[in-house]
Amino acid sequence: DTGTLGARPPMGWNSWNTFGCNINEKLIREAADSLVSSGMAKAGYQYVNIDDCWAEKDRDPVTGQYVPSRTRFPSGIKALADYVHAKGLKLGIYTSAGTLTCAKTMPGSLGHEDLDARTFASWDVDLLKYDNCNNQGVPAKDRYQAMGDALRKSGRDILYSICEWGANDPWLWGKSVGGQMWRTTGDINASWGSVMSILDQQAALSPYSGPGGWNDPDMLEVGNPGLTVAESRAHMSLWSLLNAPLIAGNDVRSMPAWVRTMLTDPDVLAVDQDWGGRQGMRIRDDGDQEVWSKPMSDGSVAVVLLNRGAAAQTISTSAAELKLPEAKAYTVRDLWANTEAASNGAIRAQVGSHDAVMLRITPGTTTALPPLVTVVVQPSA
Ligand code: GLA
Repeated sequence: DTGTLGARPPMGWNSWNTFGCNINEKLIREAADSLVSSGMAKAGYQYVNIDDCWAEKDRDPVTGQYVPSRTRFPSGIKALADYVHAKGLKLGIYTSAGTLTCAKTMPGSLGHEDLDARTFASWDVDLLKYDNCNNQGVPAKDRYQAMGDALRKSGRDILYSICEWGANDPWLWGKSVGGQMWRTTGDINASWGSVMSILDQQAALSPYSGPGGWNDPDMLEVGNPGLTVAESRAHMSLWSLLNAPLIAGNDVRSMPAWVRTMLTDPDVLAVDQDWGGRQGMRIRDDGDQEVWSKPMSDGSVAVVLLNRGAAAQTISTSAAELKLPEAKAYTVRDLWANTEAASNGAIRAQVGSHDAVMLRITPGTTTALPPLVTVVVQPSA
């Protein structure tokens, strides 16, 4: 994002989905290197986020401050922030609004909010992911308010990523405690079932997301073992339509070309980063076939045609169903295939099993386009 924190859905990378607790400063530096060399940084992936397990089990006995793991982060977090900043990127860190983090390998910040926020600011950290584990039953809003206040008082712009798992409806209060994003569900994993179950939990949350404070359906599993290419494409299409923060969770040091291409598709990222008044919504649910749409700020509409079924299906919608203004012709752009066609308002696409077609439909045509012959063919993966 530019300027105001969270003006657009934050983008970056996080260590958790692939590496869990198996992290060290070399990995974080290499991830930053790879974001730049792969073109992901240029595409907008800006935050390099260290998740759980970066600190010693005990705080410094004299100052009470966190101590970065002596074996895995021997140079300290400030040195890592300097490294990441020199690449034009930002550094994120993690802890929990509890007595211990979720992996229980390091202390949480409950009761230490001011000191910890000051410490993170003194290390030049740019984002805090603040989890909900081991919270001792203290009301969520109080715990998240305490850290929100502490971050504001720290004197540094630190993006506040609330990881409250949706248990206490953080979309209702996340913004009021200073958050720029809030998790809406439990943890994602690299399976179609997980991606679809999280998707279903977003359907009613459209009113609560927007510039400055975003619903967070959790980090990306694109490219991780457990999802096929088609499933990764559907996941990326839907998260972008939802204006989700796009935090890659794969090993960016060794990506196959298709993963890099999928994560950096300019048309798809433009949908994620554009605010046309509301996040994507499910406008039709025919069982295995769904139509999701989102208004774009230029008057076009972004559409995801989702096939949850086991066989390929033709999925149809129309300019009227998408609430586009009446026009003689529409330009239909297939955002993954990079093809354009003209339509009289009828949209039909062949969608593979566990796959999605993502379109952007603009009233009018600017150039002589071939007619939409009813079927947008998915590129072979
Ligand atoms: C929770 C969070 C995850 C991750 C782990 C780390 O489960 O939801 O995203 O941060 O904790 O332990």
